[in-house]
Amino acid sequence: MTLPLHDLARVTSYAEADEILCSRRFAQESKHESAPLIGDTVLVLDGPPHLQRRRLLAPLVARGALADYHAVISRTLDRCIDAMVEPAGDEWAADLVALGRSVFLQFAAAVIGFDDVTDPDATAELLRHLGPILEAVTVEWSTRDHATVLAEGEAARDAVIARFYTPAARRRAELVERGEAPTDLLSLLAAHGEEWDEDAAVREVVLFLAASTLNNVALLVHTAHELHAMGSSIEDMTDEQLHEAVYEALRLYPPTVALLRRALTDVTLRDGRVIREGEYVAVDLAAANRDPAVFGPDADVFRPGRPLPNRVRPWGLTFGSGPHLCLGRAVVTGSPAAPGVHVQILRTLAALGLRPDPTREPVLAASAQRRHDSYPVLLRHRPGR
Ligand code: HEM
Repeated sequence: MTLPLHDLARVTSYAEADEILCSRRFAQESKHESAPLIGDTVLVLDGPPHLQRRRLLAPLVARGALADYHAVISRTLDRCIDAMVEPAGDEWAADLVALGRSVFLQFAAAVIGFDDVTDPDATAELLRHLGPILEAVTVEWSTRDHATVLAEGEAARDAVIARFYTPAARRRAELVERGEAPTDLLSLLAAHGEEWDEDAAVREVVLFLAASTLNNVALLVHTAHELHAMGSSIEDMTDEQLHEAVYEALRLYPPTVALLRRALTDVTLRDGRVIREGEYVAVDLAAANRDPAVFGPDADVFRPGRPLPNRVRPWGLTFGSGPHLCLGRAVVTGSPAAPGVHVQILRTLAALGLRPDPTREPVLAASAQRRHDSYPVLLRHRPGR
């Protein structure tokens, strides 16, 4: 089903956006066209089945898991960077989008339980399929023909199932049968066969593959771009300052254009605005995150560490709010278990002399989402040299 986007009530104030996202009187409506790829996943379910699904998936973002993801990125980062650079005079050329995808694929593989993604051929193959999958799970915002985008995404998904999903799922099922505790998504799926049939399991895996890569790569690019534009030297920044820069990039560039909801009953919001039963609302995250009443008169400006009112997070509503709040937020923002993964990656890239390539223009994706298909960069060194 395609929603009549022009008929949606648009919500742009931070207070209204937060109120709607937290309210149980609105149903999740964000993902209709992409349902063949991610229908009935935790992102789409509502009410008690949604709560139950979130509980089952909680081990994926438990303290130990967060520390493990950090370790996976530390272990594989240099190798990923090294595989993605090419000589360019005295320097090394790379594309921050492709490079970021290959780094976050290692993270995605750890979350999901895919086995051999560190092998360069496997990374390259998965990377080839990832682009069409990411475009298809966000088909709602694509500016290309939607049927084509979906067909390409489904073909890429089928290739991933055959090459990565099926063998890994079989191995995880054997481990779970032997009584080993689930530590990744495929193990959770095997341990809770009553919750997911085969097709639903594949859709949940596709959701996590996309969730672990798409927005993370967009954030890496936006943060590097803004810090360069400000003339900031990442190497001289403390971890706290780098986290603040990541939060500010999250606030200014929420990768999700809008979260869609439907009123289950007539609702009068705290400011008196009435949303009628059955009415669809588009919660415009970029507008809410730039609401001057909350973020100040310079809300459009990249200013890490800006003062905030009580209970407002520096990243605004970029991870949503309420029952569907992003499950992977702590991976990005950092937690007592581990700092945010972007801080780790940006520091490594900065030490290698990262800068935007002045001779090659970035390319935005064919989407209403603000993310890049290509962001050319130069490095002064290769890892370890
Ligand atoms: C920059 C990075 C990320 C951003 C901006 C982001 C954004 C979001 C947003 C806005 C939602 C709420 C959708 C809604 O309310 O309709 C969401 C949900 C979700 N995110 Fe993220 N996300 C990010 C990273 C991640 C990561 C790394 C993971 C997993 C490893 C993840 C997993 C999920 C899941 C499973 C949900 C569904 C939660 C639910 O509906 O209960 N996300 N994310």
